[in-house]
Amino acid sequence: MESIVIRGGRPLHGEVTVSGAKNSALAIMAATILQGDEHKISGMPGLRDIATMKKLLQYLGAEISGSDELIINTGNIACQEAPYELVKTMRASFLVLGPLVARFGRAKVSLPGGCAIGLRPVDYHIKALEAMGVSITIDKGYVHAVCSKLKGASILFDMPTVGATENVMMAACLAKGTTTIKNAAREPEVVELAKALRHMGAYIKGEGTDTIVVEGERPLQPLAYRVMPDRIEAGTLIVAGGITGGDIRILNCPVECMGSTLEKLRDIGIDIEEDKDVVRVRRKGDLQPVEITTHPYPGFPTDMQAQVMALLTVTKGTSIIRETVFENRFIHVAELDRMGAHIKVEHDTAVVTGVKQLKGASVMATDLRASASLILAGLAAEGTTVVSRVYHLDRGYESLDKKLYKLGADIQRQQV
Ligand code: UD1
Repeated sequence: MESIVIRGGRPLHGEVTVSGAKNSALAIMAATILQGDEHKISGMPGLRDIATMKKLLQYLGAEISGSDELIINTGNIACQEAPYELVKTMRASFLVLGPLVARFGRAKVSLPGGCAIGLRPVDYHIKALEAMGVSITIDKGYVHAVCSKLKGASILFDMPTVGATENVMMAACLAKGTTTIKNAAREPEVVELAKALRHMGAYIKGEGTDTIVVEGERPLQPLAYRVMPDRIEAGTLIVAGGITGGDIRILNCPVECMGSTLEKLRDIGIDIEEDKDVVRVRRKGDLQPVEITTHPYPGFPTDMQAQVMALLTVTKGTSIIRETVFENRFIHVAELDRMGAHIKVEHDTAVVTGVKQLKGASVMATDLRASASLILAGLAAEGTTVVSRVYHLDRGYESLDKKLYKLGADIQRQQV
C-alpha cells in the first residue's frame, strides 16, 4: 500500500494545469453504449475510476484503446451485466444501466451498496426507468431490468440527483416519444453529457435548468468529444495555494461553473484573479471564518466541503459548515482533529474553530475528497504528515502529489 508523506509549511509557487473532469468523463463513457460504433473522447484524466469504467465497458464487450484520447468501440457489446466487483469499487458504474436497457432491452447491474459518505440509494434511477416502461426486479444484490419498448415519460425527482438525471437522459435518447425530467440536476457535468448526446444526434433541451426535455428515437452517430476541466480539482488547487500562502497560476480552470466555490474562497480571504481560463491565487491578509451550506449546483458543492474545511481549520474565528447532500460526509473530521484542528460535529453541521497551527500526524484517507482534505491540511501543518490509503485519492485526482511537488511542496509517495 502507498502513503503520501508531506513536510508542511512551504508556500506554493508556479503554474499547474487542471485535468479533465472525472464525473463528466465517466458519464460520457457510459453514453457510448447507446450507439454501437467507434467513439472518440479526448482530454481524459488518468484516474483509477476511469480505469474501472474502461474495465466495465470491456467486460461488456467494448474494444478500447488510448489513454489521453480514448477510442471506444461499442459495436460488439454482447454482455449486459455489470458485475458486483466493478460496481462496488465505483458507484458511477450504475450509469451503464440506462444505456444498456435502452439499446439492448435488458441489463443486469449490481446494486452499488453503501459507501463511506452515506447510504446513497438508487431508488430514483429505478423509479424513473420503471416509468419509462422498464420492468425491474431486484434479486441477490442485482438490478434486473427488462424492456420490450422504452417509452418517453414525465419524471419528477424528489430531489435533484446527478446520476439518475444522467441515466434517464441517456435512456430517453432511444425511447419512443418525449421524456421530461423535472427537478433535474443542473450540474455542469449533466450539461456536458447533454451536449455530448446532442453531438451524437440526440434531441435534448433544457440542460442546466431544472427541466430537461429529450425527444427519443433520433438516429445516433459516433461521438467525438473533449472532456471539460475538473472543477473540483481546480477548487482543490485554489485551496492549496491559499492554505500555504503561496502565489500560483492555475491553467485550464473552468471558472464559469465554479461561482459558489470562488465566492466562498474569496470570502475566506483568498485573492483569486481571473483571466479567461487562468486564475492566479494568492492570500491577502488573515483568513476569515465563513458559513457554508452544501447544495446541489449551483449551490456550494459537497465535493468541495472536505477541502474547504481543511482551510477553515487555520482560519481566525469560528466557521459553520452544513452538509445537506450526503448524510455521513464528515468522516475526515476525526483525522483533521488528530492534526490539531478543533471541529465539533452535530448532525449535519460542523463547527470549525480555527487554530494557529496544525501539527503533522499520521492520518488515514477514508474517501476521495477526504484524502484531498488531509493532504491540504498536511501542506499547512508544522512537521510531517503521513496520509495512508491514498488509493482513494487516485480514484479522482490525476497525480495530485506530483502537481503539488512541482509547485514546491515537500511531498512524496512511499510504499509501506
Ligand atoms: C454525483 C457525483 C458525486 C457528487 C454527487 C453530488 C458522479 C460520478 N458523482 O454522485 O461526485 O458528490 O453527484 O453532487 O457524478 N439519492 C437518492 N436516491 C437515488 C439517487 C440519489 O436518495 O436514487 C440521493 C443521494 O443519496 C444523495 C443525493 O440524492 O443524498 C444526491 O445524489 P446524486 O446527485 O445522485 O449523487 P451521485 O450521482 O451518486
